[in-house]
Amino acid sequence: MLLPCKHDASAVDQVEPAIDLLRHLDGQHPDVLKAHGLEPADYHSKLVFRSAIESIRGTYIASSLTQRQGLVADVLETMKQNDLIEDSMLESKQLSLFEESDHVELDARLWGGSFNAKESSLHQLAPYVGKLKSGMVRVLIDLYSRPGDVVFDPFCGSGVVPLECVLLGRHAIANDLSPYAYVITRGKLSAPDSKHDALLEAEDVIREVELRKSSIDPEIAPDWVRRFFHPETFKEVRAAFQVLKERQNYFLMACLLGILHHVRPGFLSYPASHLTPYLRPKMYPPEKFPHMYSYRDLKSRLLAKVERAYRRSMFTHLRDQPTWTVLQENTMNLSIPSASVNTVISSPPYFGALDYARDNRLRLWFLGVPDWKQLDRSLTASDQVYVPQMTQCLKELDRVLRDGGYCVLVLGDVERNGSKKHTANIVCELAREVSNGRMITKFIYVDEIPDIRRSRRRTRTTKCEQILVMQKIE
Ligand SMILES: C[S@@+](CC[C@H](N)C(=O)[O-])C[C@H]1O[C@@H](n2cnc3c(N)ncnc32)[C@H](O)[C@@H]1O
Repeated sequence: MLLPCKHDASAVDQVEPAIDLLRHLDGQHPDVLKAHGLEPADYHSKLVFRSAIESIRGTYIASSLTQRQGLVADVLETMKQNDLIEDSMLESKQLSLFEESDHVELDARLWGGSFNAKESSLHQLAPYVGKLKSGMVRVLIDLYSRPGDVVFDPFCGSGVVPLECVLLGRHAIANDLSPYAYVITRGKLSAPDSKHDALLEAEDVIREVELRKSSIDPEIAPDWVRRFFHPETFKEVRAAFQVLKERQNYFLMACLLGILHHVRPGFLSYPASHLTPYLRPKMYPPEKFPHMYSYRDLKSRLLAKVERAYRRSMFTHLRDQPTWTVLQENTMNLSIPSASVNTVISSPPYFGALDYARDNRLRLWFLGVPDWKQLDRSLTASDQVYVPQMTQCLKELDRVLRDGGYCVLVLGDVERNGSKKHTANIVCELAREVSNGRMITKFIYVDEIPDIRRSRRRTRTTKCEQILVMQKIE
């Protein structure tokens, strides 16, 4: 699927035996498969195969997906022992350009199970409705872009795609019209280099908050906002947002947004849900749980949040190499130059399925968006605007994408008034029209894995999601 290599013939000579060995690994070295708990069906999947080849050519960045990294290391070792490859090849960067065949298989097993303990802890900075699973995003980046490429997510939400891009050595452009999405995405990407630096910044902000909090009047907030906080906590939170906005400290702003509301003691509100802001007085009546309604100090909670953010940040030397940009624009009208993007990977809004501003209304209030309803109206989601607005967005994606580039969209079907809207089918048809037939659908992969991972408020969306893979032909 990946041959022929465009480069030097001696390199091709070395890769071919590798491919051959990988093809027949179950027959030749069943012990290697067994040692890694892999079924032949797993490794026969083209994804595993491709990752192995990427490792051989020295550009693949370590991944723990289905233990591929360990498998690949053992295969390479076996090949070295059998004189099938030379040692130097492992470091070689020269095999960087393989031709890809038309169809590469996606395999949902590669992102099955929970990634909470494997992914960068920066992914968990703040919750987001409709957040993509980092394991799936990693596979999509791996398959449809190369290190050094520019990858664009036009509906970035909480920034899973751009963060994974930077971790995988791709240049990232992220965009979302929602100020909440903008702040958490920029916050993740601009996290200070070390926990030490981040904690120093947090302590400095807290000192400034101490000086300012007495001048904050809780009455400035509408009733529905004030009801979430002890008045003294509210003053500190409000003062902290003021300071962080002045300092343009998006990382700490994202940390603060992440601890704004929940039932747990490490959060700032009275007992409330985490994803969307609902107080829970029935479950936790104040007379029975008075401690949950007392003053919660900002200092200890913000510092603990910063500590958690760095548990497994995974920002390494790689971080300085890829560049990143975060925009807050309507995807219908982007400021990105034409033909400047190698790959688009995104999860666009579904057909009227989610209310992004409503779900984040408390966080948006602190970010200076008092009218979440107006923001929801400007996002592409409602039934009435979905098709015309998505058409314009796709026109823009076609414009910014280079010839040959992939546009990979994760979409879901939605039930409306008893009828099903097949979002992926609608979107691929629109893309074909706006691009005069140049944006062609390679395939639609249906991930049937029960959807326990994506945060959804309602069940109007179906339980499987579809990955629409399109390519812009020359
Ligand atoms: C499904 S969510 C993206 C989730 C994201 N992939 C993640 O993992 O967190 C869709 C996003 O599209 C944004 N959005 C909707 N209409 C938009 C538009 N016209 N321009 C820019 N962003 C828009 C919403 O604010 C929302 O964050």
